[in-house]
Amino acid sequence: MSSYPYQIKSLDDYNQQYKRSVEAPEEFWGEIASHFTWRKKWNKILNWDFRTPQIKWFEEGKLNITENCLDRHLADKANVPAIVWEPNNPEEHHRVLTYKDLYFKVCQFAHVLKNNGVEKGDRVCIYMGMIPELVIAVLACARIGAIHTVVFGGFSAKSISDRLHDTRAEFIITCDGAYRGAKEIPLKGVIDDALIGCDFVKKIIVCTRTHTPVSMIKGRDVWWEDEIKKVETQGNADFTAVETDAEDPLFILYTSGSTGKPKGVVHTCAGYMIWTNYTFVNVFQYQPGQMYFCTADIGWITGHSYIIYGPLSAGATSLMFEGIPTWPDAGRFWEIVEKYKVNILYTAPTAIRSLMAYGDMYIEGKDLSSLKVLGSVGEPINEEAWHWYNSKIGKGEAPIVDTWWQTETGGILISNLAGITPSKPSFATLPLPGVQPVLIDDKLNEAQGNDVKGNLCMKAPWPGMCRTIYGDHERFRTNYFSTYENLYFSGDGCLRDIDGDYRITGRVDDVLNVSGHRIGTAEIENAINMHEGVMESAVVGYPHDIKGQGIYAFVIYQGSHGNNEMTRKDINETVTKIIGAIAKPDKIQFVSNLPKTRSGKIMRRILRKIAENEINALGDTTTLLDPTVVDEIIKGKL
Ligand code: WTA
Repeated sequence: MSSYPYQIKSLDDYNQQYKRSVEAPEEFWGEIASHFTWRKKWNKILNWDFRTPQIKWFEEGKLNITENCLDRHLADKANVPAIVWEPNNPEEHHRVLTYKDLYFKVCQFAHVLKNNGVEKGDRVCIYMGMIPELVIAVLACARIGAIHTVVFGGFSAKSISDRLHDTRAEFIITCDGAYRGAKEIPLKGVIDDALIGCDFVKKIIVCTRTHTPVSMIKGRDVWWEDEIKKVETQGNADFTAVETDAEDPLFILYTSGSTGKPKGVVHTCAGYMIWTNYTFVNVFQYQPGQMYFCTADIGWITGHSYIIYGPLSAGATSLMFEGIPTWPDAGRFWEIVEKYKVNILYTAPTAIRSLMAYGDMYIEGKDLSSLKVLGSVGEPINEEAWHWYNSKIGKGEAPIVDTWWQTETGGILISNLAGITPSKPSFATLPLPGVQPVLIDDKLNEAQGNDVKGNLCMKAPWPGMCRTIYGDHERFRTNYFSTYENLYFSGDGCLRDIDGDYRITGRVDDVLNVSGHRIGTAEIENAINMHEGVMESAVVGYPHDIKGQGIYAFVIYQGSHGNNEMTRKDINETVTKIIGAIAKPDKIQFVSNLPKTRSGKIMRRILRKIAENEINALGDTTTLLDPTVVDEIIKGKL
């Protein structure tokens, strides 16, 4: 008997559950929700209207997500490892936090937050490396009902500052520094730069990791360790979780769109919890006692949902890794799999392709026989990478789940279920129960039947979907619910093959997916344009063997330094300062002009074709203001 009553057991079972979830969603989710810990039961399961848009699940239900992730496991899983932590440097000792340990540490840190003035509803910005204290900080926020907003350690001071202004977060939790491969990132130093002009920030809690020298401002900056000592002397062991409403915000996570600044996606307590738990248990077919390893960073949604909330709410053992796949060498993942006898590995196609490129010698001699299930997330997985993952890592015996979802969806929406529903290389295959995909064709009609393609939308809400964009509900509406009436629009193109399986073909908007990181072309252009000397720029994606998509920038540059390596480096430096190194263009081509329509709009379609090396498919260029610029750009192509 599985310990998850709602774990799908066969293809028939999937078909039945799916049918029920669509025909009687309230009954379906009400039953699943009853397996969680509530302070007070909900009054209404679902209340929605995509026009406003308004989405509410389990209205008036009261709970605390950490009681579901921690307290409820203390009876039978107190000594089960909750977080197993592998450090960046393989020579350093690993750490294991059992459910009891994690509970205790979260309670302690909740006291620290409280002592420092954090209250329910306050926004807390977390900028830390991948150490257990990051999980502790996230859960401690949730325990007191504060809204966490984790910022990925690779983002620049300017990006942090933008996010701080948007959330008006008065509290920051950070580290002195972080290790990432051979690099040491001075996190607190970056925060100090970010804070110039953010005088609303009241407190910064700094956790020691790298012993990098830092500047601590009196009255504002405190050390994590000192604050913990104070709690110890106060003798406070437990911290009663603060009751939250089902629909209270749990966190804000920023993600890129096709226009404007990154959006603060808001997820709420109950629906998100149930969705991450349900999808974790079903997609990976997790069995109690298994070792589960998700290689994502907690700065992204995958880390939130599938390192922290999904696994911990399910009482699973979640392996957390501080380092990168290629340091000290490209065998690092396989060493970890062998060391901890990992059963389930969840990673990104970009990591798979990069390890594949290093060659099979890094796998040789590593015992990977513990692996039962493999997962892929973040971008389409090409067939070559799929087959390598399947044969070299899974030895042909571990099903691969290709999980399609987004920051906005909270958790997986389309995926096969490991060993339960069939897999198909490069297909995410079938929707999870509760998910109703539709494809909208060029004529704005819903594509019927199979062997069709269109823009991927959802017809009805699922519990884990985001509820708003922080501080800008109108942007939420226009971004996702205004393209097609009464539908959630994902921004992805998709096809449904003759078997009814879904294959995601990539973004149809101006959003790139670079090494699994989502980033808007407009954002990169804005950053490039900040460089003095840059007059104008246009950014498009192009196929990249390892990264999936590379960043190609066409730049009009004024002045004597145009067209040389130095200027390229300077522009890259500017982008790193404004956004972060992840947004650095792979190619910068200096041009004297950009292809524009008579009304002045840049024809990106043409630039995209040039960057993709498809110059025979440029299409009609006669509507351009000056068609000769196209020839010049083609000549100068990198
Ligand atoms: C893409 C990451 C193909 C897609 C969880 C989506 C995928 C964007 C897949 C969301 C997949 C994610 N197959 N494409 N299995 N998973 N994507 O918000 O374009 O960082 O819209 O969430 O990644 O990226 P995000």
